[in-house]
Amino acid sequence: MSNDMGTLRGSPNPPAMGSGEQSSPSLHAINTPLMLVLARVGLVFALLCGGASVAHAGDGLAQTPPMGWNSWNRFGCNVSEKLILGAAGALVSSRMKAAGYTYVVIDDCWQTKRDERGTIVADPARFPSGMKALAAAVHAKGLKFGIYSDAGTMTCAKRPGSKDHESQDAKTYAEWGVDYLKYDWCNTEGQDSRDAYMKMSRALRATGRPIVFSICEWGATKPWTWAQGVGQLWRATGDIQDCWDCGKSWGGMGVVHIIDLMADLYPFAGPGHFNDPDMLEIGNGGLTLEENRSHFSFWALLAAPLIAGNDLPAMTPEIRDILTNREVIAVDQDALGMQGRKVFDGGAQEVWMKPLADGSRAVILFNRGTEAAPIAVSWEDIGLFPGGKARVRDLWKHADAGIATGRYEAKVAPHGVVMVRITAQ
Ligand code: GLA
Repeated sequence: MSNDMGTLRGSPNPPAMGSGEQSSPSLHAINTPLMLVLARVGLVFALLCGGASVAHAGDGLAQTPPMGWNSWNRFGCNVSEKLILGAAGALVSSRMKAAGYTYVVIDDCWQTKRDERGTIVADPARFPSGMKALAAAVHAKGLKFGIYSDAGTMTCAKRPGSKDHESQDAKTYAEWGVDYLKYDWCNTEGQDSRDAYMKMSRALRATGRPIVFSICEWGATKPWTWAQGVGQLWRATGDIQDCWDCGKSWGGMGVVHIIDLMADLYPFAGPGHFNDPDMLEIGNGGLTLEENRSHFSFWALLAAPLIAGNDLPAMTPEIRDILTNREVIAVDQDALGMQGRKVFDGGAQEVWMKPLADGSRAVILFNRGTEAAPIAVSWEDIGLFPGGKARVRDLWKHADAGIATGRYEAKVAPHGVVMVRITAQ
């Protein structure tokens, strides 16, 4: 990385953003292709009749959950342009970019102060080429560039926040070529969450640059009830921890706790508006391979943003294979945009289901227990004709599991999943 500076300064301008993006209605209640078409027709009618208030300038972004990488989970405050360029390069060389990972996001600690005009200043020691050059270098790799700020006076790591500088910061980000803003909720005493996020949302839209707005108030004020149309995704839980089922007194939580908190939020997700169960811990060392696969499977079934958080240049082939499992990613990125839900609860054994645009169902057989166990899904539980035949495809074995009638059963490892796609015949 000794030639990073030269690479940055020689970068071409960012490619044009926003091509192919289109407005879309809220579709979370839709579960068949026919209904999807009817809903779209309905939206056009509503708009023609003066219902334009349902449309927002930022619509069209994140029609499927955003995918990318963020520095926080693995590197915390230890961010630099060298780190970001290394991650961007590894996204390409690992073929994660080809699998859909797009946004390279710098989390907290890139900023140090405001200058005499109030403009936010990036740490000159860690980002000597400046954010505009870094964004251009990320764009030159065919990726998009994300950044982090906070609705309060200071970020969670006590760097300058955006309160009372929303418009100025949004303009700065647009000028740098930012495509994604994660906006945190520390040091916001006395502020109303909806007002604060709406203020930055408007400021971003006013720049005219399509910038995905990632709301991060940890589910504190139930953003699923107010954030649709404000941002494209909102954190629904406290910070994820790199562990299966640990908990932290300040609100951090392991993977299974987050899965449980997400269970009832499925009605609020849809194209352009997703619940965010936080970034991935896959490959950070605290989970077994089995648990890493379960983590990835659930984030896909929950239509969660897939934002990797590991050391990409150092990742093992096993971790890369999990993060690039295209059959599982296809579940996450399904055009219907529905979040999956629990359809059977047998204590340590559960069945979860996500309806997909082609009428098939993604299903997770989930074993929370410490012994391997057989788990079955019945067609009745997933809305298929109870006595019908269906094709079953195993999304981790990458193999067809045959035609089943009425139900499908498989043995599931402890803390593991069997994830299948079931298509009625
Ligand atoms: C909060 C967020 C985290 C991370 C840190 C940075 O805890 O929830 O995801 O952005 O702040 O300080």
